[in-house]
Amino acid sequence: MLRHFETRSVLKLMLLPTLLVAGSVCQAQDAEAQFRKTCMSCHTIGAGKKVGPDLKDLGKRRPHEWATKFITGPLAMIDGGDPTATTLLRENNGVKMPELGVTVAEAQALLKLIDDYSAQGKTLGTAAISRPATPEDIRRGRLYFTGDLRFKSGAPACMSCHRAQGVGGWGGGWLGPDLTGATAKYGAGLSGVIENPSFPTMQGVFSKTPASAEEAFQVASYLKSVGSQPPASRDVAFPVLGVVGLVGGMLLGGHLGRKRFKGVRKNLRSR
Ligand code: HEC
Ligand code: HEC
Repeated sequence: MLRHFETRSVLKLMLLPTLLVAGSVCQAQDAEAQFRKTCMSCHTIGAGKKVGPDLKDLGKRRPHEWATKFITGPLAMIDGGDPTATTLLRENNGVKMPELGVTVAEAQALLKLIDDYSAQGKTLGTAAISRPATPEDIRRGRLYFTGDLRFKSGAPACMSCHRAQGVGGWGGGWLGPDLTGATAKYGAGLSGVIENPSFPTMQGVFSKTPASAEEAFQVASYLKSVGSQPPASRDVAFPVLGVVGLVGGMLLGGHLGRKRFKGVRKNLRSR
């Protein structure tokens, strides 16, 4: 056990200089790749607000030091009562930027990327589709959610891992959370989150087979339509009532219906 550990740390030490050199060479591409993978579900550079603010010209409104601290530890800043973070939280529907395991070096590369794009007037990412949803959008969104309509990329149906008010129930997946309240949580940014999820489990699946902007918009429209229904207290009450009802019914039925049952069985046998 101990020896295993030692070998590993020696190996790491030997690798470190190589990694540092290689790191600075491809930092620019790395930062862009990381932005696409880790940040773009919630932010654009210069293409408008999503779940979080447009990061264009970030360098003009925040010192790099503050931004580095925020990117590497957003929750500590928000929960620690940092005044800027508190204002941002209020301006962004109370959605907290999650801890994403970004290192200080990575954050600095990301900030450089944001500054470079802002200075050159280049954009990265697309803002959420903002046209109003039609009933057809909502209908198609529901079909994508249940898997009755397949995503073009071949991505799995949301219902294999999620439930939402009125869909799934016992049949829906339990790996991910119930999505009835997703609109309340992510607001207009929800379709961006679906198009480009930064949640570890989903990313594993959707980074290779992403939903298109249009598909994501329709699923988000569907979730918004169920989100405005009364809260899902039924989610608990329904199964419980169901089980009580089933057991009760079996007891009652067993008692009252024994004779009838025998009759049926006799009938079956005589055929
Ligand atoms: C799940 C959504 C989400 C992801 C993913 C995310 N952010 Fe954020 N970000 C937010 C929200 C929301 C805010 C506004 C503050 C708050 O409410 O927590 C924010 C705020 C920020 C701010 C402060 C903006 C300002 O105007 O001062 C920076 C900088 C930032 N994010 C950078 C990043 C970077 C870089 C990444 C990728 C490593 C990232 N974020 C990933 C949601 C996200
Ligand atoms: C392979 C399983 C899987 C599939 C398929 C999947 N998700 Fe998820 N999803 C998860 C898990 C697990 C989480 C919780 C965060 C994590 O660990 O990744 C999650 C989190 C989410 C969240 C954030 C919920 C919250 O409360 O913050 C949203 C929104 C979401 N998924 C939407 C969708 C939509 C829409 C689809 C279909 C396009 C989908 N997911 C398909 C597993 C999945």
